[in-house]
Amino acid sequence: MCGIVGYAGAKQAAPVLLDGLSKLEYRGYDSAGICVHGEMGLQIAKAKGRLQVLIDQTQNGSNMKGVVGIGHTRWATHGAPSDINSHPHLSDSGKIAVVHNGIIENETRLRGWLEGKGVHFHSETDTEVVANLVGYYYAKHADFLGAVRKAMSRIEGSYALGILCADQPDTIVAVKKDSPLIFGFGEGENYIASDVPAILKYTQTVAYLDDGEMVVFNAHDVAFYDQTGEPIEKKKEHISWELSAAERGGFDHFMLKEIYEQPKALRDTVSPRIRDGRVVLEGIDLSAEYLKGLRKIYLVACGSAYYVSVLAKYTIEKACRIPTEAVMASEFRYSDPVIDESNLVIIISQSGETADTLAALREAKRLGAKTLAIVNVVGSAIAKTADQTIYTWAGPEIAVATTKAFTTQLAVVYLLALQMGYALKTISEKDYADHVAALQRLPDAVSEVLSEENIQKIQYYASRYYGHHDAFYIGRNMDSAVCLEGSLKLKEVAYLHSEAYPAGELKHGPISLIEEGTLVVALATVKPLFDKMMANVREVRARGADVLCVTLKEMEQEARNQSNGIICVPTVLPMFQPSLTLIPLQIFAYYVALNRGCDVDKPRNLAKSVTVE
Ligand code: AGP
Repeated sequence: MCGIVGYAGAKQAAPVLLDGLSKLEYRGYDSAGICVHGEMGLQIAKAKGRLQVLIDQTQNGSNMKGVVGIGHTRWATHGAPSDINSHPHLSDSGKIAVVHNGIIENETRLRGWLEGKGVHFHSETDTEVVANLVGYYYAKHADFLGAVRKAMSRIEGSYALGILCADQPDTIVAVKKDSPLIFGFGEGENYIASDVPAILKYTQTVAYLDDGEMVVFNAHDVAFYDQTGEPIEKKKEHISWELSAAERGGFDHFMLKEIYEQPKALRDTVSPRIRDGRVVLEGIDLSAEYLKGLRKIYLVACGSAYYVSVLAKYTIEKACRIPTEAVMASEFRYSDPVIDESNLVIIISQSGETADTLAALREAKRLGAKTLAIVNVVGSAIAKTADQTIYTWAGPEIAVATTKAFTTQLAVVYLLALQMGYALKTISEKDYADHVAALQRLPDAVSEVLSEENIQKIQYYASRYYGHHDAFYIGRNMDSAVCLEGSLKLKEVAYLHSEAYPAGELKHGPISLIEEGTLVVALATVKPLFDKMMANVREVRARGADVLCVTLKEMEQEARNQSNGIICVPTVLPMFQPSLTLIPLQIFAYYVALNRGCDVDKPRNLAKSVTVE
């Protein structure tokens, strides 16, 4: 859940590293640090707090001279956020400096072993163990690469490491296992980073390192090695993202920018996969014969991606008539799931590196299921591990709270459901054609929801309700699944206690919490259940709740009579309605957060990629 960068070139390294870290802050933002190898040897600056503290401390890097360096932005796991616990960590010998993303699981044993050898520790972090382990072996043989390899053979856990050695001023060594690491090829300069946005400004040519691999580089040369230490060639990949994709542009926050990017992200994800009125998922092998043999489909994910899975259960069961279950990845892997080759396991993840999701994927494969991943980050661990991968083309998502990744994941679910339903003939030719056409129009419908008039209305409701202590999101059928995501958005970015319930479930307990001034966000876009929803709305209003209703334009009048506030969305085919219903909830959470003075893009205690269990 941390971000690392490394640079070797002709420019001053510190400003490049700080700039890179600014693009990786979404991965962790409780402290940051850099180490530059200059005339004075290994020079380190690190500070608790946001990156800006470090930028101020180093005068934007100008007081650290040197053209080779490594940097880190942290989400604390071992030891509280503090100057001392911030990376880079130096070996006791002062020879080795390390930045690390991941967790060293046998840290306690290694620390004890090193202390027994007379090594002193200064921080509470697992990373300092790595620095000292490499330092220990380097002291024995004065072989930098050999020391890193020896340390790797003793470390258990996950890591992407950037390592400097005081005696080799030009060189950076980086290795990885279960944490992402990319290498960036420049002209007379080279880079490493946890993710593309950190180096996008400098190069669009990268190589993705695989587990166990090592890269050794300076400004001009690079060598890759496999886990046995043999030299290997790595494929150069071109990143098509535009630089602006990783910048805020004119927006105050990435979250708002990404909300507005949804029509484009949807179009990019859907359009290339529809040809001549047919869904074409290239490289995805889901034949009618295979689908007919399926006992059950599982969708496994965490957080918002899990909520996409809940929606997918409705969508896939309706279109394909195959029993489908959504399971949280953290529960799936320890639940002794009844899975074999008669199951398809669909894994959903924006980052492609969520620890629980990756572990669940590996468990599903071990049990013999076919696995299919829906992933946004190209080359990520989940994308590489799954049998088949469908990418969402949302572009980089920087805000911790997901918006466009959610929408595009859902779009891929629609494509899959239509393709499978068509193959199985559980969806008629006409319905199939209607749905494919409607799916192509969906980005325009999302743009309609993002109209200035709607935004102003939602801003007004946010200013009216931001002071409430509790919120309940209620809805029926697919709306109840949208409630889960809407409620999570409010919790995440606005720190407002919020729960989501299927509306029919309310009176079986939670209604006891409804009192004067409770906010209820009622979703009423499932037409056949509209009257029942209105009955639920009356129940909560009778107990003093303020009701903000999200409904279809055609239901506006009736819903208005029952509610304190109303937001309307256009009507589309029921399968696709959740994609529209969710948008006002994202915007509402954003403006409530602003009204409450929250740091929208970097909510407290969170990080974008959850790479710990
Ligand atoms: C959503 O706003 C959160 N950032 C979080 O719930 C997220 O969806 C979850 O951690 C899963 O992440 P992934 O999609 O990268 O696997």
